[in-house]
Amino acid sequence: MTQSFEHGVSLVIEALRFGNVRTNQSILARIGRLRSLDIKRPPSTLPDSKSHNHSGGTREADSIGPAMEELRLRVLACSKCPHLVEFRQNVVFGVGSLEADLMFVGEAPGAEEDRLGQPFVGRAGQLLTRIIETMGFARSEVYIANVLKCRPDIPEGSPGNRAPNLEEMQTCLPYLREQIHLIQPKAIVALGGVAMRGLFNATAPMKDLRGQWRKFGGIPVMATFHPSFLLRNQALTEKRKVWEDMLQVLEFLGRPVSERQQNFFLSNKSL
Ligand code: URA
Ligand code: URA
Repeated sequence: MTQSFEHGVSLVIEALRFGNVRTNQSILARIGRLRSLDIKRPPSTLPDSKSHNHSGGTREADSIGPAMEELRLRVLACSKCPHLVEFRQNVVFGVGSLEADLMFVGEAPGAEEDRLGQPFVGRAGQLLTRIIETMGFARSEVYIANVLKCRPDIPEGSPGNRAPNLEEMQTCLPYLREQIHLIQPKAIVALGGVAMRGLFNATAPMKDLRGQWRKFGGIPVMATFHPSFLLRNQALTEKRKVWEDMLQVLEFLGRPVSERQQNFFLSNKSL
């Protein structure tokens, strides 16, 4: 799809949002079907698995599904950061259950995420998935998103990723706010210092921020190290700290914690 068509779609969506809501739902749904033909969009970027399965989604998920889809369409068509629009292959909206009790928030998509249109699918993502599963959840049971929905641009040909800056995060944050408002998770895990800066403008070192609860949009947020920090720092002590933060989250959610989970990393077990 060309950029000018993308821009046209975003203008139409904006216009519809300020018009008659009831008629517009079906028009938005039709735009959604049209946009699903977009070759840049991989088939796996449905906003969640639960509201689209056929084993009887709950009424709650059914009612927030259309609102989340409308939000997803708006975010996919966003052009507020022209330099990121230029650079991105995909907007990385978020994935998971609309009924999730637990939400994970990272900083921004990296190269793999940008390529696949899904958050946390690269190396850090694989570690995050293991953390989620060790907590006793399936990845599809939680919701995963980033503060910034587009990959931060880097000079052509240069390797790696750059962290999103404050302005980019502040521009994008209202979308995450809406996602949180729709899902209403019981708790959120903020991953790393950049996400903490985006969410709270927190600038203290992560070693001081982690392990503590704060609130964002009325929802308790536990701060912990980013999985890519754990990949760089293989020390068992740092992994154990993340795990202790996750045990606090499980306790807060009233989830059962097995003896094996309780003792993880006290011996030389590894995620
Ligand atoms: N790091 C993040 O913060 N988010 C992703 O989606 C991937 C890596
Ligand atoms: N510093 C950060 O910004 N994030 C981490 O996860 C660890 C150290």
